Parts: sequence; C-alpha cells; structure tokens
Amino acid sequence: MSLQGKVAIVTGSAGGIGRGIAEKLASLGVQVVITSRAIERAEKVAAEITDKYGSATFGCFELENKDSGTELLDTVYKQFNRIDILVNNAVSHPTLPPLPLEGLDYNLLQAGITANLSNVIHLTAQAHAYLKETKGSVLNIGSAVVNRNMLGIPLYSILKGALSQMTKSLAAEWAKDYIRVNQINPGMVESEAYKNIGIPPEIYSGMVEKYAQFHPLGRVGDPKEIGALAGQFLSEEVSWMTGAIVDMDGGYSIQGVDLFKE
Ligand SMILES: NC(=O)c1ccc[n+]([C@@H]2O[C@H](COP(=O)([O-])OP(=O)(O)OC[C@H]3O[C@@H](n4cnc5c(N)ncnc54)[C@H](OP(=O)(O)O)[C@@H]3O)[C@@H](O)[C@H]2O)c1
Repeated sequence: MSLQGKVAIVTGSAGGIGRGIAEKLASLGVQVVITSRAIERAEKVAAEITDKYGSATFGCFELENKDSGTELLDTVYKQFNRIDILVNNAVSHPTLPPLPLEGLDYNLLQAGITANLSNVIHLTAQAHAYLKETKGSVLNIGSAVVNRNMLGIPLYSILKGALSQMTKSLAAEWAKDYIRVNQINPGMVESEAYKNIGIPPEIYSGMVEKYAQFHPLGRVGDPKEIGALAGQFLSEEVSWMTGAIVDMDGGYSIQGVDLFKE
C-alpha cells in the first residue's frame, strides 16, 4: 500500500487500539514510533513489534503536558529526518470521569479539555511543519458516541464531537499543503480502556456481552480491525480522501428501531 519507509507517530500505542494501528503500519513497512506515558512500556512494545516486523521505535508522550508533544516531534525528526503520519489515538481517562456534567468539578472539566482537546490540537498544529514537508497525513481516532449517545459520559462525547470538527477544519485548512486529515470512529472495541478507567475484570466481561447487543453485527471490535482500516486510510492509494470520518462500529451508529415489533 506504498507506506514503505514512512515515519508514523501513533500516540498511546503501547496497548489497545493504538497498538493495533501501530502493528498494522509496521507490517506495511512503516517506521512506527510507539508512545506511552511510561517509556519502558513503549520500549517493550517497540521491541516486540521490531521482532515481528523489523521497524519500531519509542518515545514518551503525555497528554497533560503540552510540551511533551513538541519534544516528541523534535526527537523523532532528529532521528529520522522526516515525519509522515500522526495518529491522534491516546486519551486521558482520569480527566474524563463518567460523571454528569452538573456534578463535574470545574478543575476536572478544565483538565479534561486541556488534555484531550487543547493538547491534541497543539500537538497536531506543531506537526504541521513536518507533515507539510512530506505531504503527510493525520488520522484522528474519535468515537461512534458522536453518532449515537452513550449516556453517562457527556464530557467524553462532547470532546469527541470537537475532534470530529477538528478533522474537518484541518482537512480544509491544510489541503493547500497536501496534508490529509481523516478520522475513524470506533464502536466498542476490546482494549485496556475499561481496566484503565477502573472497571473490574468480572464486570468488564459482562459489559462486553451487554454492549455486543448494541452492535447489529453482534460483537464488539478488535484493535486489529481498527488497525486494518487505518492502514487503508493512510495508504497513498486513497490519497484523494481528506476530511472523511468513517464509523467502524459493527453498525452501532446505524442501528434501526423496529416500529412493527410487538
Ligand atoms: N475501546 C473502545 O471501545 C473505544 C471506542 C471508541 C473510541 N475509542 C478511542 O480509541 C482510542 C484508544 O482507546 P483504547 O480503547 O485503545 O484505550 P486504551 O487501551 O486505554 O488506550 C489508550 C492509550 O492512551 C494512552 N494514554 C492514556 N492516558 C494518557 C495520557 N494522559 N497521555 C498520553 N497517553 C495516554 C495509554 O497509554 P499508556 O498508559 O501506556 O500511557 C493507552 O495506550 C481513544 O481515543 C478512545 O477514545 C475507544
């Protein structure tokens, strides 16, 4: 898919969907930069991917720290002399508690917006100069909750909605520089997210069964499936596609209501 030799940063790629995307890109010949808040975790995953595909490195990235993205871009550019792809995948769960907005502490609200919106915009804006050089791509990982509400996580939904607008705005702004900006909105995908937000394993397995029913295809997704679509989105073969937001959600967003069911 003509991705050989390109350099991609995938934020939050030591696990879950980010790792699924990173593995797919590495398998297509991309030099992938695995990032984590814990450098040793990123290093371990980069080593595992290198063993399998022969091309991965690692770096530290924290959504709460606006300078961390700038440092990451700088380090990667110094190492490879190019950056072709930025995948905005990481999400800071502690700043997005499942709370009603009316009960949300102002500082927590600000922290959620700073980490998951301001600093994602900032990282992407900082990446512009590098991506302009390579006529590169941004891929944002949103969520199908922007199409069909999932109650109890309003701040998460609001910020994923803003991310969709960022995808469209930047696609329009940066087309002149031949930088493509696209987005995948997953439905529920098995990942460490639920462990990371403190849901115990026994409750989580029940949740997977329950949420599978909300996906017309009858199951939740696998990070590898999101990785497979990401590989297509970033391929030169679809270089005419920008500003696209595609749901990959087992039909979650288009589930029908049966008016005639007794
Ligand atoms: N899983 C789903 O059902 C689902 C559905 C729709 C959309 N999504 C979206 O898909 C993306 C990946 O989610 P996931 O399910 O794979 O979640 P995950 O397994 O929890 O992965 C999130 C990644 O983000 C990193 N991360 C967490 N806090 C961070 C912070 N403060 N700064 C930098 N990195 C941080 C984590 O890496 P470290 O802990 O190693 O730092 C982790 O690898 C997210 O944008 C999520 O909103 C997920």
